[in-house]
Amino acid sequence: MRSCTGCGLHSTRTNAVPGSGSSKAEILIIGEGPGFNEDQQGLPFVGRSGKLLDELLAAIPMSREDVFITNVVKCRPPDNRDPLPDEVAACRPYLERQMELLDPKVVVTLGRVSMLRFHPKGKISEDHGKILEWEGRILFPLYHPAAGLRNPAIKRELQKDVLKLPEALRQANRVSPKNIDDKIDGEITTKAPNSPVTQEDQKLPEEEQENNNRPSSQTAEASTADAQLSEPLLKNETTKEKGDRQLGMF
Ligand code: URA
Repeated sequence: MRSCTGCGLHSTRTNAVPGSGSSKAEILIIGEGPGFNEDQQGLPFVGRSGKLLDELLAAIPMSREDVFITNVVKCRPPDNRDPLPDEVAACRPYLERQMELLDPKVVVTLGRVSMLRFHPKGKISEDHGKILEWEGRILFPLYHPAAGLRNPAIKRELQKDVLKLPEALRQANRVSPKNIDDKIDGEITTKAPNSPVTQEDQKLPEEEQENNNRPSSQTAEASTADAQLSEPLLKNETTKEKGDRQLGMF
């Protein structure tokens, strides 16, 4: 990912942002794409959106060490615009490989762009906070934290929705083994569809993110899938390091 030239975003990036977190995580959190700070540091969600994400996780209570965080596209779209379809397509194999390696029970999408990757007919204003089934996993769409920072009503929805994440994890154990359908299989439980919120913003403008250089946790743990990974070991590399490298730890 760090040396990828598969789409135009490589020419404007400072750093690619593969992701961070635990390679044993049962929960994969997927944002849209790196913003200014993420591009500078090479780590996901290190700006104000990331701080809100940390607060949301703390309410469950969880931390970055309990999840793996990545984005639909690994390089920053200029001016924080939405990634273009060809950019999403170029990055698709990386996200697919990350899903394969991590094999998460629950996929949490943050925002519309990320949700559409898995639920093309979804509407974030209707589907946020619903526990859905997708290819034998749980799909749990949430509003993007940047939207929550801009709109107090969305922030309240986020704070309410995230409390259902432990239940989503419990539901994951009831989902049948992965099937072959590349589509939403069905809703398992729903919240009342009465959200007053109809709009969503995506990433913050870079000036809102600029002064936030919080360190991000980047914990690498042994992956049980290491032995099955197809890439060869690099010189002096352990199998644990190989699994982490493939997940984008380094
Ligand atoms: N917004 C995203 O969607 N991803 C990040 O990593 C940061 C902000």
